[in-house]
Amino acid sequence: MAAEPQSYISGSDRNIMPIPIARPAIGEEEIRAVTEVLRSGRLAQGEKVEQFEGGFSAYLGVKFAMAVSSGTAALQIGLQSMGVRKGDEVIVPPFTFAATANAVIHCGAMPVFADIDPRTFNIDPGKIQENITDKTSAVVCVHLYGQPCEMGALENVCRSANVDLVEDAAQAVGAEYKGRKIGTFGKVSAFSFYATKNLTTGEGGMITTAHGDLAEKVRMIRNQGQSEQYKHEIISYNFRMTDMQAALGVEQLKRIEDLNKKRAENAKFLTDALSSVDGMEVPFVPGHVKHVFHQYTIKVPKGRDKLLEYLNKHGVGARVYYPEPVYMQPPYVKMGFRKGLCPATEEACKQVLSLPVHPMLTQGELETVAKAVRDGMMGIG
Ligand SMILES: Cc1ncc(COP(=O)(O)O)c(C=O)c1O
Repeated sequence: MAAEPQSYISGSDRNIMPIPIARPAIGEEEIRAVTEVLRSGRLAQGEKVEQFEGGFSAYLGVKFAMAVSSGTAALQIGLQSMGVRKGDEVIVPPFTFAATANAVIHCGAMPVFADIDPRTFNIDPGKIQENITDKTSAVVCVHLYGQPCEMGALENVCRSANVDLVEDAAQAVGAEYKGRKIGTFGKVSAFSFYATKNLTTGEGGMITTAHGDLAEKVRMIRNQGQSEQYKHEIISYNFRMTDMQAALGVEQLKRIEDLNKKRAENAKFLTDALSSVDGMEVPFVPGHVKHVFHQYTIKVPKGRDKLLEYLNKHGVGARVYYPEPVYMQPPYVKMGFRKGLCPATEEACKQVLSLPVHPMLTQGELETVAKAVRDGMMGIG
C-alpha cells in the first residue's frame, strides 16, 4: 500500500487542511530514478551524487558544487571550510530558520544579529557596518522566502569591511539578482533540499563555491576528514548524501525551471486577487530580482492571528514563518540576547503570513485560497 503523502501540517490540522502549505512535486521519473539506484545495490554516495553535483554547478554557473546531508550541514561545513571558528563573530539576520544561526554556533563562533529591511524581510545592508567588530569573519545573508537579498550593497559593505559574504540560499534555488543566479555571489553558498523546498531530495543540501581550495576542504569535512581513504586529516563528521537522494535531485533539477515558473504564476494570481484588499500587503518584489516564491508571504499589520485561524478553519494551510526572532529562542535567551534587539524583525514576526503557492496547486485551490483571504479579512476589518 502506498504511504500517505506528508502534508507538512502538524497534528490534528492534517485532517481539515485540504490545501497544504507544501506538497512535494514527485513524478514517475523521480520514482523510476530512485528505484534504479535501489536495484543497483549501490546506495551510498557514488556516481549519482557526482552527477547531481555536476548538473547543479552547471545550472548555477558556479565552478564547484558539493552535495551533503542537509542545508544545516551545508552552512556549517561552508563556514568551517572558510576557517570560521571559536572567537569569531558572524553577522546573520534574526528573521530566518534557526539553522542559519545554529550553524555559526556549531563552528564555535558567535552569531551577531543585524535587522532586516521590512519591505523584503531580508537583511538590511545598512545595518551591517554598525555590527562589525575586529572579530567579525563573515556575513551570512538569507534569501528569505526565495527573494534575493540586495547583493550589490552587501558586496560593497563586506568588501570595505574586509569580511567574507556567505549565502544561505536554502529557500532560493533558481532565484536571480540582476540576471545572475543566487548561490554564485558568496565565498560559499548553502542550499537545502528538505521535502518542502522548491527542489527536494527529501533531506539534503549543497555547497557551492568558486574556490578550489574551499571545495577540497568541504569534501574532506563531509567525509570524516579524509583526504584519501583512511587518511583522516581532521576529526570530522559523516555529512554525506546518498545516491538515492541524488537520483531524486537529478530528476528535480531537470524540472526546477518549470516548477519555479508555476510558483511565479501562482504568486501572480494571488497578487492580482489580493492587492486591493484593505488591511494587508502583498509581497514587495523589486524589479531587478527573480523571486522564486518558496513562500508567498503577506503582511497583516492588525489581526494576523485571527486571519490565520480563519484560514486554517476553512481548509487553507497558511503558516507563520517565523513567529519569533531566532534570538528569542530559549538557547539564545540563555546566551543573553533580549527582546528589542531588532525591531523590524520583531514587527515582521507579528505580521507575516504565508499562503500556499506551491506548484502542485490547482486553479480551483488557488481561487479557494484567494477567496478565503478576502473573506477572512472582511471579518477583521
Ligand atoms: C533559511 C534556511 N536556512 C537553513 C535551513 C536548513 O536546511 P535543512 O533543513 O535542510 O537542514 C533551512 C531549512 O529549512 C532554511 O529555511
